[in-house]
Amino acid sequence: MSSHNNNNNYSSQQQESSSSLSSSEDVLLFNNLNQRSLSITQQRLALPVYQLRKHILHLLETKQTLVVVGHTGCGKTTQIPQYLYEAGWCDGGRCIAVTQPRRVAATSVAVRVAEEMGESTVGGKVGYTIRFDDQTTNTTAIKYMTDGMLLREMMVDPLLSRYPVVMIDEAHERSLSTDLVIGLLKKVMVRRPDLRVIVSSATLDAEDFCNYFNLNKDSNDKTKDTCAILSIEGRNYPVDLHYLEEPTANYVDTTVKTIVDIHLTQTPGDVLVFLTGQDEIETVRRQLIDRLSDDPTNQQHQYTIVPIYSGLPLEKQMKVFAPPNIHKRKIVLATNIAETSITIDGIVYVVDCGFVKIKSYSGRSGTDSLVVVPTSQASANQRAGRAGRNRSGKCYRLYTEAAFAKLDVHTIPEIQRSNLSSVVLQLKALGIDNILAFDFLSPPVADSLVRALELLYALGAIDDYAKLTSPIGMTMAELPTEPPFSKMILSAASDFGCSEECLSIVAMLTIPGIQYNQSLVRKQFGVKEGDHLTLLNIYNSYVDIKQKDQSGWCHDNGLNAKAMTRVLQGNNNNDTKKVDPSVLVRKAIVSGFFSNAARLLPDGSYQTIKDKRNLWIHPTSIIGTINSPEWVIFHDVIITTKEFMKELTVIEPNWLSEIAPHYYSK
Ligand code: CDP
Ligand code: MG
Repeated sequence: MSSHNNNNNYSSQQQESSSSLSSSEDVLLFNNLNQRSLSITQQRLALPVYQLRKHILHLLETKQTLVVVGHTGCGKTTQIPQYLYEAGWCDGGRCIAVTQPRRVAATSVAVRVAEEMGESTVGGKVGYTIRFDDQTTNTTAIKYMTDGMLLREMMVDPLLSRYPVVMIDEAHERSLSTDLVIGLLKKVMVRRPDLRVIVSSATLDAEDFCNYFNLNKDSNDKTKDTCAILSIEGRNYPVDLHYLEEPTANYVDTTVKTIVDIHLTQTPGDVLVFLTGQDEIETVRRQLIDRLSDDPTNQQHQYTIVPIYSGLPLEKQMKVFAPPNIHKRKIVLATNIAETSITIDGIVYVVDCGFVKIKSYSGRSGTDSLVVVPTSQASANQRAGRAGRNRSGKCYRLYTEAAFAKLDVHTIPEIQRSNLSSVVLQLKALGIDNILAFDFLSPPVADSLVRALELLYALGAIDDYAKLTSPIGMTMAELPTEPPFSKMILSAASDFGCSEECLSIVAMLTIPGIQYNQSLVRKQFGVKEGDHLTLLNIYNSYVDIKQKDQSGWCHDNGLNAKAMTRVLQGNNNNDTKKVDPSVLVRKAIVSGFFSNAARLLPDGSYQTIKDKRNLWIHPTSIIGTINSPEWVIFHDVIITTKEFMKELTVIEPNWLSEIAPHYYSK
């Protein structure tokens, strides 16, 4: 532990109690907590939402929209769809759609609800649909899905005629797709008065949702309101808040120290730690193992560390749901994925680093970057609340109380900080031509809509009248990838004869967590043309290996075997014909990503061509190990200590004018 971090004195304060239940003996609590000893029916009846079952059903008779607010774990996601099912909303082969902003939430919840409904597997009465994985049949009555998948369905069936009820769950997360679904549903509801929409949220922004969905224009007659709010009073035990007395210079070190302190000095109870991403989680995990194995009293202090972040393969993410064990403290190292999406039983201590990694849009360049920023107060309170679900808990905020007061109250919705090209493309495909007039819950900045239109025009997806082109624009809208990827795939097929190669690259880029030993992977597969062709090289080597040997081969080469299997599933081409990819594939990449072109500067950094943004090569890029090439194309930008380009490919400058003449003419 570095010495500059001794300054970990906490000031303490109690907050957030809607009940004053005090904790009794730990063992007793743990027995209560281990709810698996209760029958599933008993558990269902004990959930706070159960008290409102009749009320919910009654309101849905008369109101078109219902906004349900209740803290995480009170039963919104798992119970409400079942109440509707039991009340007959799914009769006649109909189905309730429940959207989730995250894949892990859609799958884990479907598994749980199937179990509660006495189903032996997922995919019957209860199913889920996420990208590359559809576990539903035409008898499925409750369908959990990512909001992105619901958008896809709306392209085929704009009125969502199969669904009597759509539940937009975790609406407070305000993901890009959630906001888009919300805007579209409002239009559908006018055409389909029978459709019911349930918006559920863990925070108190209910009024905004309600005002938005209320179609009653007569403010003097509330009885005509088409939307109602229902809040679920929940048991939430008190959470003791601890702040640092002095700011920390290194929150990763402070996180490790705080976890060790909790583990060695506090009574049993699991720990949930909020960090910003995979790298930090891995660092903290390693340091914890070092620190805790040095501890002489360790024999009495058993622990297990479980990471969870969206790049982790789903089956590994599921490990956080293992039931709590009084003899072994579970230390969950999480990103904000654990803030509201998933319910982990047994958490008593929360450590909140105070930061979050989010997408942020640069209006100037029209590109998204990932950037680590302080959380909002709303997020910090959600995080703290995770500690008070089963008994009173403690939350350690690794910043000062004064710093908390300065945080933004709410997180800005993603739609106001994202590149909107896929939003615009999807809206166009749904027949919404005047995007600037679309009724968004939170309207995006007009400038970013304009930038999105410009990019789509340059990609050839829309014409001079801002209409979707056929076939390019139409096809791009149907592909489940970001517009530049879609264009790359299309031109690979039409102009460069390398679709297999490009599809493989896209599959490799969209499946997270492929490499577990980056330096080994680089040594084995790195090529001088850059990261995209390196990924292709990995893929091609992988498919050449006999299936039974693939897992061992992956391990020997620093690759994650499960992730590679998913690449294969997502990538349906079995044709192993190989062209010499080096030029054609790179040209296809340029046809999608020409706006991300950059040129070397004397100081070793790069400058984007169009908008003169200064960027650096990310240390994980293969390009960093070769002599700095003069011209590159990058996939995205991540901002940490500097603004870094990730996933780079070396290009020739004349390809830009050849492939995107309009974009680079001025
Ligand atoms: O959606 P909300 O946060 O209101 O709660 P939920 O996800 O419906 O969870 C209700 C309860 O079901 C939680 O308190 C958990 O104890 C339990 N649950 C579970 O045991 N396993 C899951 N995968 C999901 C929920
Ligand atoms: Mg939920």
